[in-house]
Amino acid sequence: MKDKLNKIEEAALQSAVAAVTEVELQQVRARYLGRKGEITAVMKGMGQLIPEERPLVGALANEVKDRLEAAFTERQEGLRQELMQQSLASEKLDVTLPGRVQRRGYKHPITQVTEEIVAIFAALGFGVVEGPEIEKDFYNFEALNIPKDHPARDMQDTFYVTEDVVLRTHTSPVQVRTMLEHEPPVRVVAPGTVYRRDSDITHSPMFHQVEGFLVDRKVTFGDLKGILTTFINEFFGQNVDVRFRPSFFPFTEPSAEVDIQCVICGGSGCRVCGHSGWLEILGSGMIDPEVFKSVNYDPELYSGFAFGMGIERVAMLKYGVNDLRLFFENDLRFLKQF
Ligand code: DAH
Repeated sequence: MKDKLNKIEEAALQSAVAAVTEVELQQVRARYLGRKGEITAVMKGMGQLIPEERPLVGALANEVKDRLEAAFTERQEGLRQELMQQSLASEKLDVTLPGRVQRRGYKHPITQVTEEIVAIFAALGFGVVEGPEIEKDFYNFEALNIPKDHPARDMQDTFYVTEDVVLRTHTSPVQVRTMLEHEPPVRVVAPGTVYRRDSDITHSPMFHQVEGFLVDRKVTFGDLKGILTTFINEFFGQNVDVRFRPSFFPFTEPSAEVDIQCVICGGSGCRVCGHSGWLEILGSGMIDPEVFKSVNYDPELYSGFAFGMGIERVAMLKYGVNDLRLFFENDLRFLKQF
């Protein structure tokens, strides 16, 4: 029995040295020390020995087992070291290769255009305010003279959070919030995200507007024309023609839509401007006395003008973009052009 154990040990040690990969070594280990291994078999067979021999053989088997465990572990360590040396020897570091350039991010075109618009108005003395995108029906509609059953609501269908809370359909509610907080004179712009139930090549359910308004004593329609014309010439160019066209908004009276000379054809008429030579860019008007009443401004003492423009729309016209959805697809081939 003793001889047999010694022979097994010798064979096991030889196999361990012969193993050249960790997998091979594991197979060797299983052959000797595994559940069906040779040493294990010897230990299981001890029941057949005569009682006096059992302790002796048992002790020897344990010693052999411990020595083999140690030998296998050592061999495994050795194999790992060899592998490491091999891969270190074959890896070459080429210090002349160019480094990995960290690509720099920059502002989204809509953010760039928003900042440009705000900067022009800031230079004209306007402050900047913001309001919530989840808005009360009161600020979004009621206080702007758009009661529950007003047809103007059809054009601004939106996402209702509850019956009285909506995703705001325009930035005009910021007028109401600002006026409730500040006495005149006020002169601010309010950029932000707005939502509507709309989706096609010129409409997105999420888009951006800049609202602006000015309230003081003796503000006239002439002030509105002067400020908006100045803005348009700064933004689109000094020689772009501007036209004020009568229109209707529930929260302004009188109201005007503002057109610029078509940036594509220069006014001679093309597909983009519907052969009219003009492109509408914003809505505006003198703030309706009804709105002043809902914010406790005295309409006898104060007057003011307001305007709202779609940022995607002016960005499309300025840069000749023909599909509004391009702004939100995050295709770098598009975004990199700005
Ligand atoms: N809120 C309007 C809209 O989204 C745009 C607008 C028109 C804003 C006239 C104004 C205004 O402040 O005076 O359609």
